[in-house]
Amino acid sequence: MGFFTQLFGGKKKTSTGRATGQEAAPTQAASKPNGNARRGEFFDALSTEWDTMTRLNPAQEQQLAELIDRIGIPEGSVVVDAGCGTGVLYKYLAPRVGSKGRVFGIDISPKMISLAETKFGHDQRFHWHTASVERLIEEIAPEGIDRIICYSSFPHFDDQKGFLKIAAQALRPGGKLAIIHLGSSDEINGLHSDIKDSPVAQDTLPSIRDLSVMAQDVSLAVQTSQEEPGVYFFLGASLKRP
Ligand SMILES: C[S@@+](CC[C@H](N)C(=O)[O-])C[C@H]1O[C@@H](n2cnc3c(N)ncnc32)[C@H](O)[C@@H]1O
Repeated sequence: MGFFTQLFGGKKKTSTGRATGQEAAPTQAASKPNGNARRGEFFDALSTEWDTMTRLNPAQEQQLAELIDRIGIPEGSVVVDAGCGTGVLYKYLAPRVGSKGRVFGIDISPKMISLAETKFGHDQRFHWHTASVERLIEEIAPEGIDRIICYSSFPHFDDQKGFLKIAAQALRPGGKLAIIHLGSSDEINGLHSDIKDSPVAQDTLPSIRDLSVMAQDVSLAVQTSQEEPGVYFFLGASLKRP
């Protein structure tokens, strides 16, 4: 699992980098309202350290590569990395989408997006947008999306069912939505709640069972759902007909 533990384990400062007690608002009020604005600031503050703090070990890299393989990304696909951060999925997606594929990274943190652009702006197949996932269709999808991937980001979305609905609308026939974590919902939720006095302390990943119900409610067929210590993998398929 690891990366949030690496991020916050043993650190007594808050996740914004301020000393504990200097947060602007108490935890209860932190995530809503203005949740996105506060989360954006939170992740902005972490952006320069993000890659170092979240570096995966070789076994985790291998695990993530295998999970991305299980999505099945055809060459030439239009892929969205929803909550892309600094573009950690770049190295997994670049070889899979082929020369004609396109990848849209979308994130509410301008600093995360700026770092992704700095690192990967040379690759014309990749496009980086500062926007909330609720803007998925307006920003990206007029012609539809083949794959939407939420890697370590879904718990932070304000309206999770609303996002699933938008994703279902944005996907082309045959399109798929993947939600991936290198940890179970209990593990991820424990890590978030441990980051006290932060805008993510109450951000929760539903159990894979609850997520599957939500997805079916918005017309996504559950193709794969797996949850156990160290892994959470959901793959939902569009029910649109070609
Ligand atoms: C835990 S980080 C994961 C980043 C990246 N996927 C990774 O694994 O390194 C969650 C990311 O989701 C972004 N995020 C949170 N809410 C969002 C929203 N509503 N729309 C777009 N991005 C969002 C945050 O800014 C943050 O960069």
